Amino acid sequence: LYIGIDLGTSAVKLLLIDEKGNILKTVSKKYPLYISNSSWSEQKPEDWYLKTIEGIKDLVSNCKKEDICGISFGGQMHGLVTLDEKDNIIRPAILWNDGRSTQETDYLNTTIGKEKISQYTANIAFTGFTAPKILWMKKNEPKKFSKISKIMLPKDYLAYKLSGNHCTDYSDASGTLLLDVKNKCWSKEMLKICDITEEQLPKIYESYDIVGILKKEIAKELNLSPKVKIIAGAGDNAAAAVGTGTVGEGMCNISLGTSGTIFISRKTFEVDKNNALHSFAHADGYYHLMGCMLSAASSNKWWMDEILKTNEYSNEQMKIKKLGENNVFYLPYLMGERSPHNDPRARATFTGMTMNTTREDMIQAVLEGVTFGLRDSLEVAKSLGMKIQRTKICGGGAKSHLWKKILSNIMNLKLDIIENEEGPSYGAAILAAVGCGEFSSVEETKNIIKIIDTVNPNKELVNKYEEKYQKFHQIYPEMKNLFK
Ligand code: XUL
Repeated sequence: LYIGIDLGTSAVKLLLIDEKGNILKTVSKKYPLYISNSSWSEQKPEDWYLKTIEGIKDLVSNCKKEDICGISFGGQMHGLVTLDEKDNIIRPAILWNDGRSTQETDYLNTTIGKEKISQYTANIAFTGFTAPKILWMKKNEPKKFSKISKIMLPKDYLAYKLSGNHCTDYSDASGTLLLDVKNKCWSKEMLKICDITEEQLPKIYESYDIVGILKKEIAKELNLSPKVKIIAGAGDNAAAAVGTGTVGEGMCNISLGTSGTIFISRKTFEVDKNNALHSFAHADGYYHLMGCMLSAASSNKWWMDEILKTNEYSNEQMKIKKLGENNVFYLPYLMGERSPHNDPRARATFTGMTMNTTREDMIQAVLEGVTFGLRDSLEVAKSLGMKIQRTKICGGGAKSHLWKKILSNIMNLKLDIIENEEGPSYGAAILAAVGCGEFSSVEETKNIIKIIDTVNPNKELVNKYEEKYQKFHQIYPEMKNLFK
């Protein structure tokens, strides 16, 4: 049996599979997210660890403990976790959707220059990436910065606590802006720019590599064998891609989680010349391109929970009947936006309401606005000559049939529905199985992903949404100066 752990932004999700990839049990444990100063986003690594331990205990409570062979991870990417010499956490982790490092990002992209940064890493700087956060810490918290002994990414903190190995994997390391993605090694130039050394950084593995075994005392606490292998794991998007069979050449996965991503797997390394898409390593040993928006299912959650004060998502959505005929537009930039605008100052807006606008129109506008945001990234991928005709989907938003239908029609893609759309936790469990030798490669595991249905775009609706997208597309450039 294999355990997959997805260290998300709202909760840690754990999942147990057998050697054939059948899901035996899932468990989820929430922890707080601290948002302040309108764009700061932090979490406590101690919470991640405590909840993970609680989660593992629940997950294995009814199974034969000696059958557990391996544990692996998918984790929210880019977060900066810093430890001192004694392995104490220096400050709360600064997360992927944190917008504080605008000056440092501008410094990297403008003073050092996008061309150089992209030459060193294959990407440009975004506020969410790890390197600008390191520079922010250096400038704003010099005492804490000087104490840094180890730098790691969120899921790597779990691997470190469980195995004692300071490690990461290529997919997650790609999002630090410290990795030379093409050559799969830390970039000496970037380390110098950030004033850090290779000793402070984790050792890098392939996502399916074994990084160690469960520490004795933890094995005892969990009542598991100390022979349980710890496998490196991947950034949550790469793990989700494994979990939906998006591996090998030219496959696509869309994730509607707190963030929204469109992920295209590639066997060869490639960079989008405008760097609007991220060029990262994949968990299958190859590469991928990815567009990431910061507020996807979280836009819907904000609208339903905070503003409409309802948790009746599906009842509310059932009342929506006017697909393609809604004149309300929503810009989904609650936390600024990453792909393709790279604008941490961008903000959300509604526009186009009249006296006839209903509650349903507003709910629908949010689902459509998020999907138009993802379409922006799809357009970039298409402009690179990629022929994407179908996609898989995962994440909380994928539970909505209505949203899937909207997505298929706005993107004009066939949407293959797989048997389970768990995403990162399932992918992490698969990586654990590959690491323990259950499968000969990650690519081979795509055979265990079963497609059970396909949502096909409808021509008439595609045309209507095309018209609306062309209008959506004009709103951000018109409004952008208001957000400064
Ligand atoms: C990807 C990104 C997000 C987080 C969410 O670049 O920042 O998808 O990984 O957990």
